[in-house]
Amino acid sequence: MTQEIAILSAKPETAAEIPPVRKVFVKTYGCQMNVYDSDRMTDALAKDGYVSTDVMEDADLVLLNTCHIREKAAEKVYSALGRLRDLKKKKAGEGREMMIGVAGCVAQAEGDEILRRAPAVDLVIGPQTYHRLPDALKRVRRGERVLETDYAIEDKFEHLPSPDKAKTRARGVTAFLTVQEGCDKFCTFCVVPYTRGSEVSRPVAQIMAEASKLVEAGVREITLLGQNVNAWHGVGADGAEWGLGELLHRLAEIDGLARLRYTTSHPRDMDATLIEAHRDLPQLMPYLHLPIQSGSDRILKAMNRRHTTAEYIALVERIKAARPDIAMSGDFIVGFPGETDEDFEDTMRLVETIGYAQAFSFKYSTRPGTPGADLDGQVPEDVKAKRLERLQDLLLSQQRAFAEACIGREIDLLLEKPGRMSGQLIGRSPWLQSVNVDAKASQIGDIIKVRITGAGPNSLFAETIS
Ligand code: SAH
Ligand code: SF4
Ligand code: F3S
Repeated sequence: MTQEIAILSAKPETAAEIPPVRKVFVKTYGCQMNVYDSDRMTDALAKDGYVSTDVMEDADLVLLNTCHIREKAAEKVYSALGRLRDLKKKKAGEGREMMIGVAGCVAQAEGDEILRRAPAVDLVIGPQTYHRLPDALKRVRRGERVLETDYAIEDKFEHLPSPDKAKTRARGVTAFLTVQEGCDKFCTFCVVPYTRGSEVSRPVAQIMAEASKLVEAGVREITLLGQNVNAWHGVGADGAEWGLGELLHRLAEIDGLARLRYTTSHPRDMDATLIEAHRDLPQLMPYLHLPIQSGSDRILKAMNRRHTTAEYIALVERIKAARPDIAMSGDFIVGFPGETDEDFEDTMRLVETIGYAQAFSFKYSTRPGTPGADLDGQVPEDVKAKRLERLQDLLLSQQRAFAEACIGREIDLLLEKPGRMSGQLIGRSPWLQSVNVDAKASQIGDIIKVRITGAGPNSLFAETIS
């Protein structure tokens, strides 16, 4: 008889009969939304008697929450599954069962293939069906190999438990909150509309309830998440149609919620109310991740981004006029099919024009099933690599310049976690930089005034101002 069946059938009567706890190990790849989803799955599993473990070898269930955005990300899953197959065999030899589940965007995109290529996998579950996880695991325990990738008709958020108070407390003073999921924009390079489905906004009341719960559990800073977070819309308490700007206003009224952020936003969805929120809400941090991908209008058109570089520059100017100290962040793709040296130079010029505090850049990765995969003019890998290196050098120099410019400034610092040196804590600046400062562990969650004294490669140093 397996352990699981024993758990289901036996009613413990004495302490000696209390069943062993089941342990889940979750490995998260990809974006912040996967981080949020992993926590929600962990919370759902806790109701099912699972506790989390950081030690994979101890787990009765290993869940990989996967990312499909670039080929490399997707490949990681199969190599991880190879290692897990060996672990599962080893544990079976010791008489312990281990279930393997694959969640996330690779599960959604390649569910059948995973089951075919990796016989050790017991469960494949897509991002829209996480609320069915406990039920799916029951089916696995009955001997089924489960594939759950059909988009649910019911709203998964209504059925997933909201964040657990004790767990939220343990997770720290900052938290993610998904307000929007999926994408209808269909940029020609991108898998997200296929893996996350079409754009869905969570209702205002659900978001407000979750935010309040987070704050009650000690959270001071919430980052609203969405693949196109600023496409979020809903009906407000006043019956009016709200956009993200209105939602931020409402969230800013929650007592104890000191800081708000949101990511990722699309340039086409930055409306006037949202821009004004940056001017009017002190809680809204002056940092904006606003990807453009390329500085060439020709390439932007081929990518189906549906705006020009001039429109983007004008938009950033409007945002900076509303909030002069805002730090800009972005994403770039080099080597999209048809990208010439000239197009790439346009990207370099655009980066010079905007001046990013931080940015992510990638070599174009051909994704099966996206329109980009069928385009002529695929760029050779060595050309992509050279362009990426030049772009990253420029972005890094801008990031350094931004950090250096912070030296001497007095800022508010939200103390988040212990630092590497004892007697120090790490906090976040309004511009999302990590800052090291001398402080006591009991101050975690406090916002203190500090002066920036130095800049290292990945973080800043500061002293408290008494
Ligand atoms: N919704 C966001 C992006 C989400 S994906 C937006 O519209 O900006 C995160 C980033 O991954 C993208 O901004 C893009 O820079 C990168 N990316 C997406 N697909 C890619 C691909 N096929 N190859 C390389 N990078 C890609
Ligand atoms: Fe992908 Fe474009 Fe949607 Fe962003 S907006 S998730 S890049 S399709
Ligand atoms: Fe990756 Fe899916 Fe996020 S593809 S980037 S995990 S939405």
